[in-house]
Amino acid sequence: MVLVSEMGKKMYIHTPVLLERILEYVKPVKSGSLFIDATLGEGGYSERFLTEFPGIQIIGIERDPEILEIARKRLGRFGERVMLFHMWFDDFFNAYEQLVQTDPDRIIFDLGISRFHYEVSGRGFSFTEEQPLDMRLSGELTLSACDIVNTYPEEKLSLLFRDFGEERFARRIARAIVYNRKKKPVKTSRALAEIINKAIPKEGRRALKINPATRCFQALRIAVNSELERLENGLEAAFKILVKGGRMGVVSYHSLEDRIVKRFFKEKKSSCTCPPDWPICQCRGVSEAEILTTKPVQPEAEEIHKNRASRSAKLRVIEKIVPREAV
Ligand SMILES: C[S@@+](CC[C@H](N)C(=O)[O-])C[C@H]1O[C@@H](n2cnc3c(N)ncnc32)[C@H](O)[C@@H]1O
Repeated sequence: MVLVSEMGKKMYIHTPVLLERILEYVKPVKSGSLFIDATLGEGGYSERFLTEFPGIQIIGIERDPEILEIARKRLGRFGERVMLFHMWFDDFFNAYEQLVQTDPDRIIFDLGISRFHYEVSGRGFSFTEEQPLDMRLSGELTLSACDIVNTYPEEKLSLLFRDFGEERFARRIARAIVYNRKKKPVKTSRALAEIINKAIPKEGRRALKINPATRCFQALRIAVNSELERLENGLEAAFKILVKGGRMGVVSYHSLEDRIVKRFFKEKKSSCTCPPDWPICQCRGVSEAEILTTKPVQPEAEEIHKNRASRSAKLRVIEKIVPREAV
């Protein structure tokens, strides 16, 4: 983590996660390569790639306008080698042919949010700060975390915490929120964290290695930004435009994301797409990809020690082995 000061304001720069391993697996092989950084953030990956490989061009995609501006300034010195898009990555890849003329040979996704969102954005991603409960990555979204917490029926809240947070005490937490919001709407991140904290039994809290509010905050963020849906659509659309021999790497930070990536990669590797109960293969399918990371790549102890945010990261990489038209 690097601490910089801009106009007297303290700011934190996100430390890129698993960067050396990404360079190893997804490094461009030829000059003129087109690399897509699907989750640009502050541009940590992009800056390193542009510096290390002077012959490549980069497209960066980022939906959050504030962090996109930080990246724009950071990458400004690379001039026309960088093209930035203020879009959701799934929308970008689905509209690729209308937006870009060359097909990419490298695509990287670094999922979730950046340190900027927790430390600087003031949008309620952090449960230790007193901030409005918002969690939207982009202003065009109509539903904020505050709307969900104060309007969803108890059952729906409970399912959200269970399905998107894998929260063991989802029912109790949902009940406590509904009880509390009748007295006073829950409008800030800290108010919500306190309710969650109290709703979890003492022994449950003691057994946790993470803040008790972590899972519910994750669930709200996922729901507000449709993260899992965008990931599924984004992976599929990105794989389509990748050239033969092109590689796609994905860094995920929790099991819900990783499951989607793992399943998607497996599907691309498996040659047959017939239903499992068909006795004979009808599809005469060909395998579309090789998985380069049979086990996910995880940070070494040293990286985790330097950057705690990397501790749950998993990198998976796939290489496309069919021409673009075949997908
Ligand atoms: C973990 S950060 C990326 C950090 C970056 N790799 C670096 O090293 O600086 C993920 C970024 O992706 C953005 N993001 C998340 N989901 C997105 C989506 N579906 N479309 C576009 N941007 C997205 C977030 O706003 C965040 O800035």
